[in-house]
Amino acid sequence: MPKFIISGQKRLSGRVSVSGSKNSALPILAATLLAQGHSTIYEVPQLLDIQNMKQLLLSLGAEVDEKETALQICCKKPIFDVSSYETVSKLRASVLVMGPLLARCGRVKISMPGGCQIGARPVDLHLKGFLALGAKISQGHGFIEAKCKNLVGTKIYLDFPSVGATENLMMAASLAQGQTIIENAAVEPEIVDLANYINLMGGKIVGAGTDTIRISGVSELNGQTHSVIPDRIEAGTYAAAAAVTRSKIQIDNVVPGHLKPITAKLREAGIEVEEGDSHIIVNASEKLKAADIKTLPYPGFPTDMQAPYTSIMSVADGTSMVIETIFENRFLHLPELSRMGAHIKIEGRTAVIEGAKKLSSAKVKVSDLRAGAALVVAALAAEGDTEISEIEHIDRGYCNIESKLASLGANIERTD
Ligand code: UD1
Repeated sequence: MPKFIISGQKRLSGRVSVSGSKNSALPILAATLLAQGHSTIYEVPQLLDIQNMKQLLLSLGAEVDEKETALQICCKKPIFDVSSYETVSKLRASVLVMGPLLARCGRVKISMPGGCQIGARPVDLHLKGFLALGAKISQGHGFIEAKCKNLVGTKIYLDFPSVGATENLMMAASLAQGQTIIENAAVEPEIVDLANYINLMGGKIVGAGTDTIRISGVSELNGQTHSVIPDRIEAGTYAAAAAVTRSKIQIDNVVPGHLKPITAKLREAGIEVEEGDSHIIVNASEKLKAADIKTLPYPGFPTDMQAPYTSIMSVADGTSMVIETIFENRFLHLPELSRMGAHIKIEGRTAVIEGAKKLSSAKVKVSDLRAGAALVVAALAAEGDTEISEIEHIDRGYCNIESKLASLGANIERTD
């Protein structure tokens, strides 16, 4: 299995360009199933998760033509069946095809997604929403099946502003009869990107990006061309790499507005962040200071940045508190950071990190995508050669991470 060997403590410099957002591309690719005719989606990041979504679309009867970061998709007659547990367990975002298939075929059968390393991750809010839209739901033997004659618009209040549930319901409601109002909706930039794409196809969605989204159902959507927004978490991860190596780098292809919850915290931690129109310059020449975070739905501090942020706090001056409120098991990277010399205590969903003078290399193992990002960041700061195994998790969400970091001057190698 491939591993990363990172020889740490190299100062970074230069510019790095962020790829399209994985978390935007996945629902947008699922939404192509809603359309008659061809859609062309640009800026799709070349990642394992995207390859898995492509395979899923092919298995659902879509034609997919891939040219680097552009995917052309056409699904004349979608198949409603996603009953392979292998598919769903490889890609949790497979659940995002439920809304489009239900709307387009009047039926969807999907293998019930299990939990994953970071939490149980139920889909009850997705199902409650489909039920409210008029679907009949049955569950058993590891499958979920939803059926409807017609989806009919209604008012849905989400108990929690779930990103996936908001996306699935927005997609289903786009082809429903009448108006659907989603209250307490997620407001992440990826929700706005998906709504923009559906609207381009002829959908009628207003309010995406606020907690109340109004969707007037239309009878047909037509394939369109759309470019996915830049990945704010990838940008934040490179900012964390600059922070721990006390470097100054420019991060290109970002929407600075989407990064506000991250840049505000970096500034509090003593890191300078200068914002351009589509780039940021991160300068960590000053001492790093401890700054607490609590993960929250957008515009709060993103849970996906929690792990890389703990690597910064591991070498900051003082004691910080990190509270994870979104996922119940998202501290799997912390014992590995401790093996690299970080001083961390965990009490439930709170971690207390006392900044260490330095980190030292060790053999460490990746448990999930963002845990992997945290270990890469920590290894860049550590003295000696860190060996990071199970990096396939990192390949799920970071495009060419080793070549991007190497171009900034990091000493990182992928070995078998
Ligand atoms: C998406 C992102 C993921 C990010 C997360 C939170 C994608 C492909 N993934 O995941 O990277 O970490 O948002 O920003 O976009 N929940 C329920 N019932 C439900 C749905 C969710 O209890 O029906 C809970 C989850 O278990 C979790 C919390 O709500 O504890 C947030 O989940 P959600 O916002 O749905 O995240 P995802 O869409 O799965």
